[in-house]
Amino acid sequence: MAQLNYNGYMIKLSNSAKETSDFGLILAKKSQGGEIYSLVGDLGSGKTYFAKGFARGLGIDRTVQSPSFILLKVYEVKNNKKIKYFCHVDVYRLNSSKEILEVGLKEYLGKENTITLIEWADKIKDVLQGHTTININFEWLDKNKRKIIIKNPR
Ligand SMILES: Nc1ncnc2c1ncn2[C@@H]1O[C@H](COP(=O)(O)OP(=O)(O)O)[C@@H](O)[C@H]1O
Ligand SMILES: [Mg+2]
Repeated sequence: MAQLNYNGYMIKLSNSAKETSDFGLILAKKSQGGEIYSLVGDLGSGKTYFAKGFARGLGIDRTVQSPSFILLKVYEVKNNKKIKYFCHVDVYRLNSSKEILEVGLKEYLGKENTITLIEWADKIKDVLQGHTTININFEWLDKNKRKIIIKNPR
């Protein structure tokens, strides 16, 4: 995947859904626990494909789908000393931040034994305030191409 670093940003060009999910897989393997991934981008820009690869990178073999209808889904991570849970959130259909608090997001957010990945995170900025997030933006370029922009990569 082509990569460019510019002004504190890492910009990647993905040429296929597989490249996007493989990128998620790599970041999963680099994660330590406690991370909050904020994924922002239009419908079809690749957020869920990234999440699928991320889950695979944590050794989760259950299929990860967009949890749009249930907002939050927690997967158990096995065979990892630090990371016990992968919390996949999709707030696309959210009407108010209150709804995501009601399903218990705070129990997972930023916890050392958990990685939280939030699709449409820009919709719950108020909930995420005060937390450090890893921000990833997804942009649709053409049918199979996506631009992935990461701020302040570690
Ligand atoms: N380079 C790419 N990266 C990610 N998805 C891609 C890419 N090229 C084509 N696609 C397609 O775009 C769609 C992305 O869907 P999805 O990951 O569910 O998006 P989102 O969760 O952002 O709404 C899928 O149908 C996937 O097959
Ligand atoms: Mg999605």
